[in-house]
Amino acid sequence: DQELRTLLLSRIHDVPDYPKPGVTFKDITPLLADATAFAALTDAFAGLCREYGATKVVGLEARGFILAAPVAVRAGVGFVPVRKAGKLPGATLGQAYALEYGTAEIELHADALVPGDRVLVIDDVLATGGTAEASLKLIRRAGAEVAGVAVLMELGFLPGRERLAGELAGAPLEALITV
Ligand code: PRP
Ligand code: MG
Repeated sequence: DQELRTLLLSRIHDVPDYPKPGVTFKDITPLLADATAFAALTDAFAGLCREYGATKVVGLEARGFILAAPVAVRAGVGFVPVRKAGKLPGATLGQAYALEYGTAEIELHADALVPGDRVLVIDDVLATGGTAEASLKLIRRAGAEVAGVAVLMELGFLPGRERLAGELAGAPLEALITV
C-alpha cells in the first residue's frame, strides 16, 4: 500500500555518481538500519511468500541475502542462496548472464531444491533483469517450480520486467516500489 511505499522510499538514499559518473546508486542501508522499515519490508515479502504458496525462498547474493533470510524465517520456509560463482562448496548448477560489459555467473547447489518445491526469488533491485533471469533458469534446471519474483525496487526506466517475462512464464513479478 501507499503507506508502506512511502516508508520504504524515505529510507532509500540516492547517491549520485556512484559507482560511476552519471549513475545514481540506490542505497538501502538506511532502510536496513531502521527496525520499523526493515520489519515492514520483511512482512510484505513474507505475505507474498504465503500468497504464492512458496516452499523455499531464494536470495540472490549479496544484497538479496539480507532481505530474503528474515523473510524465510517469518514465512516458515527454508532459505536457499544463489551465489556468485565459486563460493558454494557442493555440486552446483551454474548459469552465465550478460552484464553491461562482459558476463557474470551465479550458482545454486544442485540438491538445494527438490521437485515439488515452489520458489520465491527475492532481491533488492530489478535493473536489467539479468541476475533474476539467470536465477529462474537455475531454479527450473534444479527441477523446482518458480512461485514468483519479489524485489524491493524496480528501475522502471530499464526493461528488466520485459526481459524477465519469458522465464517467469506467467509467474508473478512483484516490485514493492518502482523508481
Ligand atoms: C545488483 C542488485 C541486483 C542486480 C540487479 O547486484 O543487488 O542483484 O544488481 O541488476 P540486474 O537486474 O541488471 O541484473 P550486484 O551484482 O551489483 O551486487 P550485490 O548484490 O552483490 O551488491
Ligand atoms: Mg545484487
